[in-house]
Amino acid sequence: MTNVTPPLRVVVIGTRGQAARVAVPTIALSERADLVGVIGSEQRRTREFADELGVTSYPSISSLAKDGVDAVWLTAPNHLHATMASELLESGVSVLLEKPMTTTLDDATSLREVVARTEASATLRVAYQHRFRPAHQLLRHQLRSGELGESGMLRVHRYWKFPYFAGDDPSGPAPWRSSSTTSGGWAINDIGSHLVDLVLWMTQPQPLTVVSAVFGMQFPGVDNDSSALLTLGVGDRGLAVIECSNALSSPGSLVEYYSGTAWARLTNSFHPVAVSTTSLDDMSVTTTSDDSYLRMFDDFVAACHGEPSEGATADEAWESVRLIQEARATGRYLAGPA
Ligand SMILES: NC(=O)c1ccc[n+]([C@@H]2O[C@H](COP(=O)([O-])OP(=O)(O)OC[C@H]3O[C@@H](n4cnc5c(N)ncnc54)[C@H](OP(=O)(O)O)[C@@H]3O)[C@@H](O)[C@H]2O)c1
Repeated sequence: MTNVTPPLRVVVIGTRGQAARVAVPTIALSERADLVGVIGSEQRRTREFADELGVTSYPSISSLAKDGVDAVWLTAPNHLHATMASELLESGVSVLLEKPMTTTLDDATSLREVVARTEASATLRVAYQHRFRPAHQLLRHQLRSGELGESGMLRVHRYWKFPYFAGDDPSGPAPWRSSSTTSGGWAINDIGSHLVDLVLWMTQPQPLTVVSAVFGMQFPGVDNDSSALLTLGVGDRGLAVIECSNALSSPGSLVEYYSGTAWARLTNSFHPVAVSTTSLDDMSVTTTSDDSYLRMFDDFVAACHGEPSEGATADEAWESVRLIQEARATGRYLAGPA
């Protein structure tokens, strides 16, 4: 007799942006889940989106558990994450929560407590899909095995100029992203939180501390960070440098590590088609499709079934929020263009 688990019944929260561009098509690709519904901020738009997809338009989070929904991919704006995820978990629905976990450490702490209290009935992972890129996994393996030397410097550089996507308004981001309160920081959360998660995940279990932080505000008309430069202490002697921007140009992303005995460099490893090379010949990796979202989603499904999972847990995502909050509280903000 074969032991086949039925597909996870999943709802997407959100009807535009990340919901339409990534969550819906990714679930469609998964062999272990079915998209059964959507929830948006406005009933008519939600119904239209649900009809387009041939799924149910749910009126509220409280209607999901009654209808046998197992899990949600939650893509609402950052400041809504804590309340929505808590309500879902309390009702026994698992959550793949878009990053960042929350906009404040207090919210992250409360949500982490809910996760601990509900772990027998529901699972939470935070959507840090860049963990699932082969080049990043290989570098992590080499760092943790010590093959690249100890106490070096890890540098993660990613600039991605806004507008990010064809449909984005070039004059500036949605109001929730412009506001420092509802975004929790613009570039630092849109781009930087991924980089903080990579540093955290690649250097575990060494403790990270904020050494310095500088924020630039170069995007015209937006009173929120559009660049960030963070220096983190890694354990007793290591260093990590994180550079992100959605206002500055760059020839491409870099993930680099330098120690006294070796170095490694991944170029453009955040992109769908990545050719990554390092000082070690056997670490050259070529990927030809962007399956990082699908790999992350399938990892979440595995976690929901109690199987091994590499996705970001509440404890790990809490640590990212802690570092970002401390960087924002202690960092220097440089004024942008007049
Ligand atoms: N993992 C990644 O690399 C990645 C990439 C992009 C975004 N994200 C994350 O995804 C989240 C959304 O970003 P976005 O780019 O999609 O923003 P966006 O384009 O501004 O869209 C906002 C989304 O939130 C939904 N929403 C707003 N209020 C809601 C409510 N009360 N109930 C239900 N849905 C609500 C909207 O649905 P309606 O249309 O119904 O209002 C819409 O789908 C953010 O947390 C962001 O950090 C992650």
